[in-house]
Amino acid sequence: MHRTKIDLADNVRAAIIGELGSALADSVDLSAQVKQAHWNVKGPSFIALHELFDQVAADVRNFTDEIAERIVILGGTAHGTVQEAAGKTRLAVYPSDISAGANHVEALSSVLAAYGKNIRASIDTTAELGDAITADILTGVGRSTDKWLWMVEAHRQSDS
Ligand SMILES: [Fe+2]
Repeated sequence: MHRTKIDLADNVRAAIIGELGSALADSVDLSAQVKQAHWNVKGPSFIALHELFDQVAADVRNFTDEIAERIVILGGTAHGTVQEAAGKTRLAVYPSDISAGANHVEALSSVLAAYGKNIRASIDTTAELGDAITADILTGVGRSTDKWLWMVEAHRQSDS
């Protein structure tokens, strides 16, 4: 870790950096998975889903940046390359053999829900470690994730 005058003990910073490192790997993976859906989706809802998925991808890129920068703010190193993320991500592999909009909605809602669950756990962990600012950043990430989950999932909720 790099030295910093920030008012958090070294062991606390290390624990938070570890938590954020996992979130960063998930975020890099999520970003690529959403783009995969954006590129390959087909069917009658193509344009709506194609454009929605790109909005999701843009937002994921933004909060990936926030997570990575928080790591550096705390004196850590952001390990955000695709190769590093691939070895650390906790998300399931995105299916590469699907095309139909309904299948991408199903796959993407699953990954957004899994990502959001991990973020929710990290909010609790970082709050318990005494860093309300990191918890707040992650709360913003979780708020966005829940919103995108709704927007994706709503495509399959019309029959209930
Ligand atoms: Fe595009």
